[in-house]
Amino acid sequence: TDLATFIAGLPKAELHLHIEGSLEPELMFALAQRNRVAIPYGSVEDVRAAYAFSNLQDFLDIYYAGAEVLRTRADFHDLAIAYFRRAAADGVVHAEIMFDPQTHTDRGIPFAEVIEGLLSAMRVAEAELGVTSSLILSFLRHLSEEAAFATLEAAGPWLDRIAAVGLDSSEVGHPPEKFARVFAAARARGLRITAHAGEEGPPEYVHQALDLLGVERIDHGNRALEDPALVARLAAEGMTLTVCPLSNLKLCVVGDLADHPLDGMLALGLKATVNSDDPAYFGGYIAANYRAVAEARGLSRADLVTLARNSFTGSFLPPEAIARHV
Ligand code: HPA
Ligand code: ZN
Repeated sequence: TDLATFIAGLPKAELHLHIEGSLEPELMFALAQRNRVAIPYGSVEDVRAAYAFSNLQDFLDIYYAGAEVLRTRADFHDLAIAYFRRAAADGVVHAEIMFDPQTHTDRGIPFAEVIEGLLSAMRVAEAELGVTSSLILSFLRHLSEEAAFATLEAAGPWLDRIAAVGLDSSEVGHPPEKFARVFAAARARGLRITAHAGEEGPPEYVHQALDLLGVERIDHGNRALEDPALVARLAAEGMTLTVCPLSNLKLCVVGDLADHPLDGMLALGLKATVNSDDPAYFGGYIAANYRAVAEARGLSRADLVTLARNSFTGSFLPPEAIARHV
């Protein structure tokens, strides 16, 4: 079989996906119309032309503006079901989906509208596509600790349907230590823990995510490679890294996919995985990420199998479910 067929046929979990980042320009236009929200674009082509970023903040500005069209439970449902259809076509059998409640509650959209729309799409995805999923509530790190606590509080009625908390948005200047107490409160409520670290931020932020947040995996983690002692620790602890090749390229974390460190991570004994991050903005869903990095780095089929296996062992599924997938 050819590479694309092999990749699509490989059962995999997606561990790093921001549902707001799966908003395709066509759906953005449809929701803008449905909700009578003005958007600063004349056409779908205009939108795609705006997706040229030189760093994370460039992207975040456009990503938060795009999310303005999301207003009702039906919008969040439609957003998520569109993601699940594409993920299923790419061979995803389990997805752990990040959502950014503050992006919506700060615009007056009730937490309930956001999460009930996502949960209803998750039920349809399991029943009709056979894709299981869970939710990761991500705190926006450019906002305050107090705002993060308020978000955890707002999530109270749904905590049994949220697997984990995460930490995203502008990394540099917002170290994990800012959220140590919120993450301790989330752990005390039985939530699993992940955080973006080492995408643009220094290795020190990865150390903090481990020591102060108690993360069970690291989202991105690229810059951990600058610190050999940290690499040794991540390998010894079997820490999963949720790596996002096309994201890294579009946000200039790497200059060229030919220089992407994914196979270097595997060679160092790190449990790397491949994920799509914000596929509508970065040019492809999970299979496109596997294909692009496999071609650019000459990955073997054994490497691809390892990456897919790591996606299950690094998931927040219970051990029995992981055992069924690997
Ligand atoms: N990094 C930080 N915050 C984000 C990202 C990312 O890649 N995508 C969506 N929010
Ligand atoms: Zn991300």
